[in-house]
Amino acid sequence: MGKLIVLNHPLIQHKLTMIRDYKTGTKAFRELVDEVATLMAFEITRDLALKEVEVQTPVAKAKAYEIAGKKLGIVPILRAGLGMVNGVLQLIPAAKVGHVGLYRDPETLKPVEYYVKLPADISERDLIIVDPMLATGGSAAAAITSLKQRGGVNIKLMCLIGAPEGVKEVQKEHPDVDIYLAALDEKLNEHGYIVPGLGDAGDRLFGTK
Ligand code: PRP
Ligand code: URA
Repeated sequence: MGKLIVLNHPLIQHKLTMIRDYKTGTKAFRELVDEVATLMAFEITRDLALKEVEVQTPVAKAKAYEIAGKKLGIVPILRAGLGMVNGVLQLIPAAKVGHVGLYRDPETLKPVEYYVKLPADISERDLIIVDPMLATGGSAAAAITSLKQRGGVNIKLMCLIGAPEGVKEVQKEHPDVDIYLAALDEKLNEHGYIVPGLGDAGDRLFGTK
């Protein structure tokens, strides 16, 4: 089964509290999501392989390290996932960005796919799917399926807040995918919103309602 990793770094937790606060307006919300995405990217890239290299410093030759192995791809689930892309790119500026467009039908809560555009070489990349919310898990599971159908093999899922139901769904459908969260919340309400959560991530990021 895929691992669930909750990144409870103090800076992540502090900023997440501000993100949750209903008084936080669009500008601050967007900036904070961006910052937390950067902090989470730092943690999620801990297992990147390194290779030994030699570097000439102004003083002497040194044995040093640089990142080896595969290239990276970031895949936001539209639209709220867009809010996490730049934060990740701060640390991994050479990553390619793919997009999967999904919205959750408000009646059935099932994901509806409306757009997919991915780098041609996704099978050669480590892929990080980003979306602030993992609620029923339907959107994340569908996005992972979409990547796999197009050749994606090494996939991680990074969300701000998850519900137990969503974690279970992704682990059931995609046991090969590790899930990284800033917080694991209590439950879903009758509308499929995470409790206590942060409300509607897309609306808060983009100022829509
Ligand atoms: C939100 C969120 C996730 C999805 C999570 O998107 O950004 O993609 O819901 O819910 P689930 O785990 O139950 O599938 P939404 O459908 O509201 O679309 P938006 O990003 O365009 O606002
Ligand atoms: N989508 C959101 O934006 N928020 C939730 O709580 C659940 C799904």
